[in-house]
Amino acid sequence: MKTVITYGTFDLFHSGHKRLLERAKKLGDRLIVGVTSDFYDQQRGKLNVYQSCAKRIENVKQTGLADQIIVEEEEGQKISDIQQYNVDIFAIGSDWLGKFDYLKEYCDVIYLPRTQGISSTELRLKQNKIIRIGIVGTGRISSRFVRESKYVSGLELEAVYARNIDKAKAFAETNEIPKAFSDYIEFLENVDAVYIAVPHHVHYDYSRVALNNKKNVLCEKPLTLNATQATELFAIAKANNCILMEAVKTAYAPAFDRLVSITKSGIIGDIKAIDATFTKLITDKTLREYDYNQCGGAFSELGTYPLLIIAKLLGVTPSHVSFLTEIDKETGVDVFTRANLIYRKAICSATVGIGVKKEGDLCIAGTKGYIYVPAPWWKTEYFEIRFEDLRLTRKYFFKFDEDGLRYELASFIRAINGINKNKYMLNERDSVFFAQIMENFKKGTNVTNL
Ligand code: CTP
Repeated sequence: MKTVITYGTFDLFHSGHKRLLERAKKLGDRLIVGVTSDFYDQQRGKLNVYQSCAKRIENVKQTGLADQIIVEEEEGQKISDIQQYNVDIFAIGSDWLGKFDYLKEYCDVIYLPRTQGISSTELRLKQNKIIRIGIVGTGRISSRFVRESKYVSGLELEAVYARNIDKAKAFAETNEIPKAFSDYIEFLENVDAVYIAVPHHVHYDYSRVALNNKKNVLCEKPLTLNATQATELFAIAKANNCILMEAVKTAYAPAFDRLVSITKSGIIGDIKAIDATFTKLITDKTLREYDYNQCGGAFSELGTYPLLIIAKLLGVTPSHVSFLTEIDKETGVDVFTRANLIYRKAICSATVGIGVKKEGDLCIAGTKGYIYVPAPWWKTEYFEIRFEDLRLTRKYFFKFDEDGLRYELASFIRAINGINKNKYMLNERDSVFFAQIMENFKKGTNVTNL
């Protein structure tokens, strides 16, 4: 009895996949097919897979060629699978030639010629046209966005907009973007979607005009500074059949997703407290963050992150919200703010600062244990689940690549293509909640000055 094993993503199952499975099966008596989990694909940077793991397993099952289907969850799993299932032959397409020679120590390794002229990548491209993205704004974050966009397929950076045409042209030239505009409508005519990275107080206007022109919008946080405007933008998006997403990078990070799922599974019991801090010490008061007229200040700049974890774990209907804040006399913006949110059976604090430095960590307390995420928790990568008995501590690590904007961008592209696998990560409800809390703070509702 000879056992053969093969692995793949098997997205949009095609004739190349089928031929590979047929030939692999013929090499022995029994065929095991390993299908990559969504999470594993995400971890290894394959961010553009269209079908869910369940659907891809179904695709393989339908062929009737697999005697057993397993899920490939992580790097290094192949060796243990080979031993566990008594595998004699590891077979894979010739695009991997040489890459799995290290398995020869455990079984035979056979590279089967790849079927020419077909791949999931090509099918994905055929199914959906390349999305032309326009960048609104030429600041620091826009440059980061350009760097990160290289890791996401299905898009091209087509144009950049700035009020000052020289700035737009310079940015376009540095970043090899074909077109530069200072006329917003003309700019919109050249793109399918926009990434808005301008000061907070103009997010609403740029988003509204883009959506009214039927363009998909990925807007930097905070989307708006009041709930009515946020609700209105989502209504316009819906009416125009467009995607509107708030660019809160943490929400789309693989580790954050896991953190939320694990916490929701009840491992630390009932959640009783969430304390999240994000400080970014800024001393140059000429910067946008200190400009009152551009809605600067610590809370509008950083508050979304702690509010995100609170919203994801406890929902968006706290029974009471209050703030403690210190206002900088010179500029009028808040430099250190703590929002206290009371839920039915839990208390939360969201602490932010641009004029105060503090450990930027996150602690979620429960009735059975707690979760600790060290700074910078908003670039979630590593966290621990701790209990009274320290020997039970569990440690988790999931990669957060560089600036991490690639995850939100991949999610945005998928949503535009109608594959909104990650809808639960951040939605209208969350964004309206963030805007409402920002609005309360700006209006001075339950605000105490230090
Ligand atoms: N395969 C093949 N011939 C093709 C495409 C894939 O033999 N034309 C093989 C691969 O070599 C691999 C298996 O099918 O052994 C699963 O490949 P997968 O990566 O899921 O498919 P691709 O079409 O290569 O996907 P992508 O374009 O996303 O890389």
